[in-house]
Amino acid sequence: MMRNIVLIGFMGSGKTSVGQKLSQELALSFVDTDDVIEERAGKSIKQIFTEEGEEAFRFLERKIVREVSAPEGKVIACGGGVVLDPRNVKALKRKGVFFYLKTSTEVICKRTKASFERPLLQVANKKGQIEKLLCLREKTYQEVADFTIDTSNLSINQVVEEIKKKFKQG
Ligand code: S3P
Repeated sequence: MMRNIVLIGFMGSGKTSVGQKLSQELALSFVDTDDVIEERAGKSIKQIFTEEGEEAFRFLERKIVREVSAPEGKVIACGGGVVLDPRNVKALKRKGVFFYLKTSTEVICKRTKASFERPLLQVANKKGQIEKLLCLREKTYQEVADFTIDTSNLSINQVVEEIKKKFKQG
């Protein structure tokens, strides 16, 4: 059975845009964990966070990750917090190759500037929050990654090409 391509990285690193394009080019199905969570809960991520709290969100996220980890040869875009839980990493690693879309704080700030949907970034000092979370998470992203691609100066197409190349080799 074909391996899954698992895209990880911080909010705004391009996991969804890259994943969609990549899945089209490789004729694989595409799944975004946040989309499945919203569908299943019948409400937005933002609503889940405000009405039920982050823990309830992470619980649902773990359940969805288990489901989508089955080895079907698909592209999986993971919410930025997915790999912080070792249970999620374990499930996804069984048949997944992990690509970390590494992105600089500056680029993340720019890309998430107009985002009012991400609950973790609804704070007065957005840049400070991004720096803080990145600092806490960077090591984990690096450690679980099979491949790291620095996306800061690349277009979506360039990132897609890099992943295709590495996936074939790996
Ligand atoms: C989160 C990232 C979001 C979403 C939720 C929590 C995080 O996904 O899952 O808001 O903890 O980094 P994106 O990375 O797709 O924005």
